[in-house]
Amino acid sequence: MIRMGRKQGMITAFAKHSWQICCARDRNMTLALTVAMMCLGTLLANADEGTQSIRFTKDWRFTKGDPAAAETVDFDDSKWNTVRLPHDWAIAGPFNPDEDGYAGKLPWKGVGWYRKEFTLDWPAGSRIYLDFDGVMAFPQVYINGQLAGKWDYGYTSFRVDATDYVNLSGKNVIAVRADTTNHGTRWYPGAGIYRKVMLEIREPIHIAPWGVCITTPKVTDDSATIDIAVQVENHKPAEVSSKVTFTLIDASGNDVASASMDGTIAPGDSEFKQTLTIADPQRWDVDHPHLYRLTSELIVDGKLADSQATSLGIRTIEFTADDGFHLNGRRVQLQGVNLHHDLGPLGAAFSTRAAERQLQIMKSMGVNALRTSHNPPAPEVLDLCDSMGILVWDECFDKWDRTADRIHGKPSLQEHGERHLRSMVLRDRNHPSIIVWSIGNEIPDNEEGVTPERVKLMAEIVRKYDTSRPTTIGTCFPHQVAQGVYDSLDVVGWNYLRRYANHRKLLTEKPILYSESASTLSSRGFYALPLAYTKTDYNPGLQVSSYDLNAAAWSDIPEVEFDLMKKDPFVAGEFVWTGFDYLGEPTPYSHEAKSSYFGIVDLCGIPKDRYWLYRSYWNPEELTVHITPHWNWPDHVGAKVPVFVYTNGDSAELFLNGQSLGRQEKGVRSDRQANLAVGKQFSASSTRPSFEADLAGDDDMDSKWSAENDSPVQWLQVDLGKSESIKCIVIEFEKEAKWYGYELQVSPDMIHWETVARKPVSDFPQWGGSTASIHKTDIQARYARIEFDSLSDGNHASISEFAVYPDTAQSMYYDSTYDYRLRWNDVTYEPGELKVVAYKDGKQLGTARIKTAGEPAKIRLTPDRTRLDATGDDLCYVLVEALDKDGVLCPLAENQIRFQVEGPADIAAVGNGNPMSQELFQTNSRRLFYGKAMLIVRANEGHPGQITVTADADDLEATSISISSNE
Ligand code: GAL
Repeated sequence: MIRMGRKQGMITAFAKHSWQICCARDRNMTLALTVAMMCLGTLLANADEGTQSIRFTKDWRFTKGDPAAAETVDFDDSKWNTVRLPHDWAIAGPFNPDEDGYAGKLPWKGVGWYRKEFTLDWPAGSRIYLDFDGVMAFPQVYINGQLAGKWDYGYTSFRVDATDYVNLSGKNVIAVRADTTNHGTRWYPGAGIYRKVMLEIREPIHIAPWGVCITTPKVTDDSATIDIAVQVENHKPAEVSSKVTFTLIDASGNDVASASMDGTIAPGDSEFKQTLTIADPQRWDVDHPHLYRLTSELIVDGKLADSQATSLGIRTIEFTADDGFHLNGRRVQLQGVNLHHDLGPLGAAFSTRAAERQLQIMKSMGVNALRTSHNPPAPEVLDLCDSMGILVWDECFDKWDRTADRIHGKPSLQEHGERHLRSMVLRDRNHPSIIVWSIGNEIPDNEEGVTPERVKLMAEIVRKYDTSRPTTIGTCFPHQVAQGVYDSLDVVGWNYLRRYANHRKLLTEKPILYSESASTLSSRGFYALPLAYTKTDYNPGLQVSSYDLNAAAWSDIPEVEFDLMKKDPFVAGEFVWTGFDYLGEPTPYSHEAKSSYFGIVDLCGIPKDRYWLYRSYWNPEELTVHITPHWNWPDHVGAKVPVFVYTNGDSAELFLNGQSLGRQEKGVRSDRQANLAVGKQFSASSTRPSFEADLAGDDDMDSKWSAENDSPVQWLQVDLGKSESIKCIVIEFEKEAKWYGYELQVSPDMIHWETVARKPVSDFPQWGGSTASIHKTDIQARYARIEFDSLSDGNHASISEFAVYPDTAQSMYYDSTYDYRLRWNDVTYEPGELKVVAYKDGKQLGTARIKTAGEPAKIRLTPDRTRLDATGDDLCYVLVEALDKDGVLCPLAENQIRFQVEGPADIAAVGNGNPMSQELFQTNSRRLFYGKAMLIVRANEGHPGQITVTADADDLEATSISISSNE
């Protein structure tokens, strides 16, 4: 069926000097050719070919600051730096140690200018566009001195129509001003033209930007219906005769369907619609991401005028209220991660290879889903997800205020939402990987925030551009359910602490996702003893222990979330916060550190221990046998060093220097002592209804005793029924123990009381702190009692569990760890070899061993790939480690390593995953952090050849590796 004629309002006409309607790609290999030439003054044209897409990334000039008249043609930029896009001006540093770490302590605030000169030789009537994937922030684009377009959100893509400003036969100057001054952020945003720019040259009649829309409304095992709508722009004053042809090709290159339509195209915008039906469709799925390719060709007056290739996947998706998410008719548990847009040491400057590596590392751990927190990603990320079978939550905003580049409600939510949701949905709608659109994250119901009407408005904007996927929000506000805030959404994503419980009760028909889970914290390679008692019991040394027992106060360790996902199968699955460490938000050392501790892998992509925990559970098909911690504890000879093993097996036996330390089995909680107070008689000075005294002795951390008022003078007491030998009293408070001042007493008879501990209110540690107080005793008593004498502001006496043990004890918070990791809590340390043999169903599965290392003696370099492409974008990640003279990894080494790269490549960045480090990323040396660092090498564009990477250090044997860079 053919339908032609003027189109109804989908693509708005471009307005000069005003907001440019955004658009861009479509993985559009345009008809003629992507061109690879481009340097200052290069002639950009071959006038015989009507259409070109040119990567506009080389030979830009850049300066920080805001020089007057920088937009003018004759401005002298010869003293500016030459840069290649994508470019992030802030990642070079330096760090500002005095600044809070929320945005990485990097100099991202301010104004920067980019300029580029180019020459065109193109016939009159040609259309010239500049497509920007992302500029941070508030870009103004000048062409030949005139403002040609501007944009007001750093994370969405936009097009500038340059046609009326360019000189089609001669020299042109483009100047872009980026200004981050008014950008608000909670993480490192980057600065400048941090994603690619394309120069798009088109004939006067061409396919509109993001103008191909493909949906698959009917899919069965036998056939699939493919609906295609193509928007065409006719910039000529007259009607033309045309033909549009569609060819669908499968992954093996076979034509599987085609159609063509003849007609006329009137001046302005037109739409063509076509339906193709194919037999035996191959599904796009997580394990089998089959992609078809649709070529749309526009023929005008008998000549090919434009062509676009769009990849597509045939799949069905459904979110259900009671049975999670269904892909192609079967339930798929979402095993997802949140990823911010920065690429660690490379900053926000986008690199396809760096993103591909991120996704490969995540996938190897069992990830099948990605939440692009909290903004649309570079479009290449979605291409990667399409081809790797990763399901995507595509998110437009964090809040709707300054992090969305909206300042005090200006522009209106309607205008701003329309502009940017449209950009996200039109750009991304053909990606089969995307399963849900998100309108924002954790938006409060304040002045700039959510109301039922505003959420409806935003959801309707999304649906205007795509009805084939559901719309969602990420939230942490259970009270908003009853306010009706989520009524107009299809799915609701919840962040942390099983906050979806209220939704489950009230909105029974609406599907639920766990959009943020875990927020567990750790520094790769660092272990603190003794083990954390509760999740907020952080090490005061500004690193977080990799025993994986710490989480942010508002979140949990991985196993708590694994249990929830088992218990609540109506939830579609979880997105862990976060897959990779990112720049900024360094909870709990928010002031001191510069990058996060949340990642399952560190800032350089080196796995932390947690990677192996997730992999053992999420990817059980792969062999995982991993020992935590390292075995270099010179100060602990003869002392206890706990050993955890992460494995996809169900049990394992541990050996130290050949001696068996016994076998542990998943699900067996060997260590926790019986709590003598469970079920015994409790009394208290006062209680609130439903928070009675005996709830402090029910062995359940979710229930608690709470005093009825704020008076600090309160008490709680237990009668054990008979005299007992007491070795340990553990009080689990509702909040951090530091907020409570009290005296702990015991008595044989309720007449003679002995004080066993006194504790004042304190404000240490600044962040977090344990919710439990542990008091070691060695007494005989029948009664135990806590008497509060002071409470910090806003708190009242409240205890989740008052536990009395006949021996030393562990927090019951960690009980679930025994179901997922194997724990030997009392290994007496001696240097040597620790070996584990893992079993599954009684059969040996695999082994792992670690050894005590001697002094660092040499360097090991391990490249992730040894063949690169000389495209200017390709990277090699070289893992740098210190070994002792026998080749044993030195887990504590911190040598400063120097690098040299010879051949057609440069050092793109160095890093070591240390959240506290303020060493530069763009330099040629790096200190090892717990034995490891990362060197990132970039192959030069257009210069294939051999690359030699050499690493040396004082006192270490140097080493070299070879990499080749190919055409
Ligand atoms: C969430 C928030 C995220 C991040 C995270 C850290 O509440 O949505 O952006 O801040 O906390 O745990």
